[in-house]
Amino acid sequence: MTLQERIEKNIGLLIIGVVIVISVGGLVQILPLFFQTSTTLPVEGLKPYSALQLAGRDIYIREGCVGCHSQMIRPFRAETERYGHYSTAGEFIYDRPFLWGSKRTGPDLHRVGERYSDDWHIAHLINPRDVVPESIMPGYPWLAETNLDQSDIQQRMRGLQYLGHPYSDEDIANAPEQLKDKTEIDALVAYLQSLGTALKGI
Ligand code: HEC
Repeated sequence: MTLQERIEKNIGLLIIGVVIVISVGGLVQILPLFFQTSTTLPVEGLKPYSALQLAGRDIYIREGCVGCHSQMIRPFRAETERYGHYSTAGEFIYDRPFLWGSKRTGPDLHRVGERYSDDWHIAHLINPRDVVPESIMPGYPWLAETNLDQSDIQQRMRGLQYLGHPYSDEDIANAPEQLKDKTEIDALVAYLQSLGTALKGI
């Protein structure tokens, strides 16, 4: 019996062989990504989210915006002409978890930062049809009336600091002050205005 026949006729050996082949294939693809600087280092000028932006990001997650909006511009002409420079790995170093999404009922938001004024965003979030008459996006009027919960912001920032986000102790000490008297919509708009701005000039 040849080696091939022996492996093909013995299910145990075949399983071991398949596991070895798939592991090698997987490791070859995945391992280099841990060591490539283009995937592990932040792009130049990227800053971790400020306390207000971080709180806004939580509201983005809570309200399920990711269910209709991606934050991942693919390197295709149709996308870069519409949204701007394609997304790069180094822009997401301070995103835990990533909010790339996979559904685009609405447009991609990765480069929406600084595209509209704060007032536009506030009007749009309260009732999208006030600024985009044909919009099917739901309104989020309560965000403008709800004060920001600031009770856990320092713990959250400390957790991220532990994971390597460059927050200084001063940033963390000042966080509650930054969130004081702010509504949820202020935080969400601050977050949206920061999206994709590190690479905007390219
Ligand atoms: C049911 C799907 C849906 C959900 C949920 C949704 N959106 Fe939208 N969004 C859309 C659609 C469709 C548009 C395009 C029409 C418009 O501008 O209103 C849009 C547009 C936008 C725009 C303008 C983008 C641009 O480039 O013009 C922003 C900003 C935005 N949404 C933010 C949000 C945020 C923040 C949330 C969560 C609080 C959210 N959306 C939830 C569907 C959705």
